[in-house]
Amino acid sequence: MSSVISAVGLGRSFGEVEAVKGVDCEVKQGEIYGFLGPNGAGKSTVVKMLTTLLRPSFGSAEIFGLDLLKQSDEIRLRIGVALQDASLDEKQTGREILRLQGRLYGLTRSEADRRIDELSSVIEVDAIDRRVGTYSGGMERRLDLAASLMHNPDLLFLDEPTTGLDPQSRAYVWQEVKRLNSAFGTTIFLTTQYLEEADVLANRVGIINEGRIVAQGTPEELKRSVGSDVVEVRLLSNPDDVRSSIEALSVVDHVETGTDRLLISVRDGAASVSPIAVALDKSGAQVDELTLRTPSLDDVFFEITGGRIEI
Ligand SMILES: Nc1ncnc2c1ncn2[C@@H]1O[C@H](COP(=O)(O)OP(=O)(O)OP(=O)(O)O)[C@@H](O)[C@H]1O
Ligand SMILES: [Mg+2]
Repeated sequence: MSSVISAVGLGRSFGEVEAVKGVDCEVKQGEIYGFLGPNGAGKSTVVKMLTTLLRPSFGSAEIFGLDLLKQSDEIRLRIGVALQDASLDEKQTGREILRLQGRLYGLTRSEADRRIDELSSVIEVDAIDRRVGTYSGGMERRLDLAASLMHNPDLLFLDEPTTGLDPQSRAYVWQEVKRLNSAFGTTIFLTTQYLEEADVLANRVGIINEGRIVAQGTPEELKRSVGSDVVEVRLLSNPDDVRSSIEALSVVDHVETGTDRLLISVRDGAASVSPIAVALDKSGAQVDELTLRTPSLDDVFFEITGGRIEI
């Protein structure tokens, strides 16, 4: 399959700050590529470079085989972008914004109107003639998504499309991303801080931390690379009180404490649950819930960086 995005050593500095430190990344036609990383990892900076909105300080990239710097006009016609901090004009209606977007890409008024009808599933139909100032966060996101789709792009960049959305709006965006990908073969480059989002949506995931890609693969490959299972214990008492007695168990590799939970890495999940339960009981912990699970993408992130994306 041919490469839609091919970046080599792509980087960007802002003064002293090296925000992106040389990213190599390959996205194939028809893929949903999930770019997962915590706040400030460099996700938006990479998106802005790949969409020709920000000049790289070093490295190079091709989009559809076109050179990012030399052929940026051709690239722009074939890509759609929904940025993280889209600022929509509050006084305009949804329809006006979409028409304007259509005109920017050379659609005639009637072509734009036809396209708006086609995109009616993306936007709530009864909201389209209301001023954007009256929209909820979820509706703004959907309008922004529709705007990025007006010119039928072959490649779509979505920068944290679901951050701050309620679960229902998030599920809606997920469904729409899947539909675009399967119905039209649109290649999608999606950034997220949500592990589940990367896991559920992406065929392949790149994990970015402090400006570098630290792991890349299918969600399954990445999770398999973590050798240990995880026993997760939710507590009503203070997790730090029992930490040392859990760490002392021979079945336990490593313990982390959160505000109300323990994350216990163990090599053999099945053999570990009962000694852990006994030790918790002996040390007087008030256990709310104890679950054994296979590694998540967060465990992958932890194994590589020593930090957590979500805790
Ligand atoms: N225009 C800028 N000037 C100076 N520093 C910047 C600029 N844009 C980004 N940075 C810095 O670059 C780093 C990466 O920022 P970026 O916005 O790419 O992260 P992100 O992964 O998108 O984070 P978030 O999840 O919060 O959106 C941060 O340290 C940020 O402060
Ligand atoms: Mg960002």
